[in-house]
Amino acid sequence: DKGEFKHYMLKEIYEQPDAVRRTVEMAVDNGTTSKLRDDFLQRHEAQLKGIKHVQVIACGTSYHSGLVAKYWFESLIRVPCSVEVASEFRYRNPVVVDNTLVICISQSGETADTLSALRDIQKHTPKGLVSLALCNVPTSSLVRETDIFLPTLAGPEIGVASTKAFTTQLAALMLLVLKVGVVQERMTGDNLTTLLGQLQQLPGQLHASLNLDVPIKVMSEHFEYKKSCLFLGRGLQFPIALEGALKLKEISYIHAEGYAAGELKHGPLALVDKDMPIVVLAPKDSMFDKLKANMQEVHARHGELFVFASEESKMVAEDRMHVVYVPDVCETLAPIVYSVPVQLLSYHVAVMRGTDVDQPRNLAKSVTVE
Ligand code: F6R
Repeated sequence: DKGEFKHYMLKEIYEQPDAVRRTVEMAVDNGTTSKLRDDFLQRHEAQLKGIKHVQVIACGTSYHSGLVAKYWFESLIRVPCSVEVASEFRYRNPVVVDNTLVICISQSGETADTLSALRDIQKHTPKGLVSLALCNVPTSSLVRETDIFLPTLAGPEIGVASTKAFTTQLAALMLLVLKVGVVQERMTGDNLTTLLGQLQQLPGQLHASLNLDVPIKVMSEHFEYKKSCLFLGRGLQFPIALEGALKLKEISYIHAEGYAAGELKHGPLALVDKDMPIVVLAPKDSMFDKLKANMQEVHARHGELFVFASEESKMVAEDRMHVVYVPDVCETLAPIVYSVPVQLLSYHVAVMRGTDVDQPRNLAKSVTVE
C-alpha cells in the first residue's frame, strides 16, 4: 500500500530513516556508544577473525554499496577489499586468495549473476573461504547458500529503483567493518566509540535530508528537457555519483554518467557546455578543495552546476550554479546521507517527464536471468 504517497519509490525514500535505524540497531543498542551488541554476528567471530581479504560481488545499485565498503574496509581497518560486478567476475577466471571473505550484496538474493559467481568460487574452495550474504530477503537463494547472513532490515522494496535497500546496505556494511575491526583488533576503542555515536545520529540526519524534497523539486525543473547529465564526486562520494547517475537514467530515461571528479579532465570535460547539467556531491570533507577546483573547470566551460553541499562549506549559488544544503554529517557516513538528495532528484525529474517511476520500461525488480 502506497498510503499517502504517489509512488512506492517516494514512500521507500521516506522510509529510510526508520529502515536505517532498524538496521543499525542489529548491532548497536540505542544510546550505547562504547561497544557493539554481544549478539551481533557472535556465532561468526572465529570466521571473521581469520579473513585477510574481502571480495565484494554484486550488480547495479548493490555494486555501488560495495564500492563504498571498499573505502571503509581499507581506510578504517586496513583490510584489502576488491569489488566487482558479478557478470564480469564470473567469466574471467578470477583469483580468489586464501582467507577471503566473499560478500555478495543483493536486495533480492535471487540475482542470477551474483548467485553464479558465488557458486563458482565455492566450487574452487580456496582455503579459509567465508561467504556472506548481505540481503534484504531472508528466504532467498543467496542466504541459503552462504555461511553468514547479514540482513538489511529495509522491509519489502516494491519500486524497481532501489532506494532504502541501498542505504540499509551501506549501514550494514559499516557495522560489518566495525565487527571485523573489533575481532581482528584493528580498531581503537576511541574510533569505535566515535563511529557508533555517529551511526546513531544517522536516522535523524536522514530525516532532516528529506526536508530537501522541496528545494530539490525546484532544482529538478532544470532537468526536464535535458539529454545528458554528469554526476561528480570524489572519495566516498564517487560511488554515490555512480548511483545518482544510475537512478536518473533508469527512471527518467535521461542519459547520465557518474564520474570521479578527478577524471574530468581526462575526457568528459569535452562534453561540457551550457546544455549539460552537472550534479556535484560536495560535502565539506578532505576532498572538498580538490572538488572545488573540478567545479571551476566545469564552470569555466559554461556547464550548469547543481551542487549538494554542506552549509559549512559556505558554497553560494551564483550564475549557472545551484546549491542545495545537505544536513551536516561526518565524512565517513556522508555517502549514506548524500544518497537521499540524488534519489529525490531522479524521482522528481522522472515524475515531471511522466515516466512509470515504479516500473520503468525494460527493467525487472529481480533479475533472475543472466
Ligand atoms: C537499480 C537497481 C538494480 C539492482 C540490481 C541488483 O535501482 O535496483 O541495479 O540493484 O539489479 O539487484 P539485487 O540487489 O536484487 O541483486
